Amino acid sequence: MQDTRSESQRRSNGNLLYSMKTSSFSEVPDKDKYGQCRSVTEFEKLNRVGEGTYGIVYRARDTRTDEIVALKKMRMEREKDGIPISGLREMTILLNLRHDNIVELREIVVGKSLDSMFLVMEYCEQDLASLLDNMQAPFSEAQVKCIFMQLCRGLTYLHDNFIIHRDLKVSNLLLTDRGCLKIADFGLARKFEFPMKPMTPKVVTLWYRAPELLLGSKDQSTAIDMWAAGCILGELLAHHPLMPGKSEIHQLELIVELLGTPNESIWPGFQSLPALEHFSLKKQPYNNLRHTFPWLSDAGVRLLNFLFMFDPKKRASASDVLENSYFKESPHPCDPEVMPSFPQHRNVKKKPGPAPDSAEKSKVRSSSGSAAPNKGMAIPVLGSSFGSGSFGGGIFDGDAFSGPMQPAAGASYAPPAKRQK
Ligand SMILES: Nc1ncnc2c1ncn2[C@@H]1O[C@H](COP(=O)(O)OP(=O)(O)OP(=O)(O)O)[C@@H](O)[C@H]1O
Ligand SMILES: [Mg+2]
Repeated sequence: MQDTRSESQRRSNGNLLYSMKTSSFSEVPDKDKYGQCRSVTEFEKLNRVGEGTYGIVYRARDTRTDEIVALKKMRMEREKDGIPISGLREMTILLNLRHDNIVELREIVVGKSLDSMFLVMEYCEQDLASLLDNMQAPFSEAQVKCIFMQLCRGLTYLHDNFIIHRDLKVSNLLLTDRGCLKIADFGLARKFEFPMKPMTPKVVTLWYRAPELLLGSKDQSTAIDMWAAGCILGELLAHHPLMPGKSEIHQLELIVELLGTPNESIWPGFQSLPALEHFSLKKQPYNNLRHTFPWLSDAGVRLLNFLFMFDPKKRASASDVLENSYFKESPHPCDPEVMPSFPQHRNVKKKPGPAPDSAEKSKVRSSSGSAAPNKGMAIPVLGSSFGSGSFGGGIFDGDAFSGPMQPAAGASYAPPAKRQK
């Protein structure tokens, strides 16, 4: 059917409804404009905290309750035919989930025009990517265990509810000032059923993408989330992204370099994966995990190997991880309540010019990224207070924190040149 609206009419007014019956447009009456949804004008925009492929995220105040929330504006500009599928998936999946380690979607609110929609979510003070890129002292091993166990609790809940996240990465993991980790960004998430239907292998940000996806398999399972979880654990322990590939081929090379070349005996069906019709993998007989993490306990290396099983059927599940002996040995996972809180650098306007400590910072950044994390007790970072949720005197001075600092036992987190969207 031909669209009889002029382009200018379409652009100037998002409040027209098209009738298939009469082929005409009519104005939506004021009383029906927002349906059951509140208007976004009930929220005071405070600042922008993030921008991704699918939306811009703001920190905002709900003027009705005075609560601080996160508002994710759905990107509509690429859509000709209504709500983008990523937004619909995110809404329908998140509205049905309730778990401490999954970000809470409270409601959907709408703007003036029909095509402007916002997800109202609980506000989390940090995302793990910007936190890792800005913190000078890396997480202690006890803190890494605390964060990772929370991730696996959230994943156990998701997988038990037949949901695969399909885009786990540090920028999609949020952290509250009470040390609670929340899995966010459900734009690529999918509900699955048995028997599994084929799905596109072009999911999961490259650095976290499982080998079966890179090799073109359309059989996706919860194991793709567990591979990504392994990459996240490696990243938290190593203080830098574990396998920052630049292309799909390079990603496979990095995997083979770290874990050795897979074969039909450890991964039945491997030889028949679609991508192997066009190329073959380099022969590399060694598993280099122990070499990459020389300071890590045997249980830690065993856990990484379990998460990095080439055969998705043999890979650790989220509930396997929670039972793993790595979390039962010293240093024990710290309590989320004693995780330090961090300056909220996303809410501070950047000053122009170089940061006063930038020379010092680049010196630290150039050191090897695979040093051991702070062992033992949680170290408060930059004068932050334990569990109080307060700022505690850390000053933001550009893109780094300054102020009283506890020296880190290992190197600082080495931020990647550019994280991938
Ligand atoms: N509930 C929240 N509280 C605080 N910050 C949030 C919240 N949700 C998202 N953010 C911030 O906004 C960023 C982008 O959000 P999100 O990942 O949901 O969007 P996206 O467009 O799907 O992102 P991408 O395509 O980059 O993965 C996050 O990395 C995080 O920094
Ligand atoms: Mg995201």
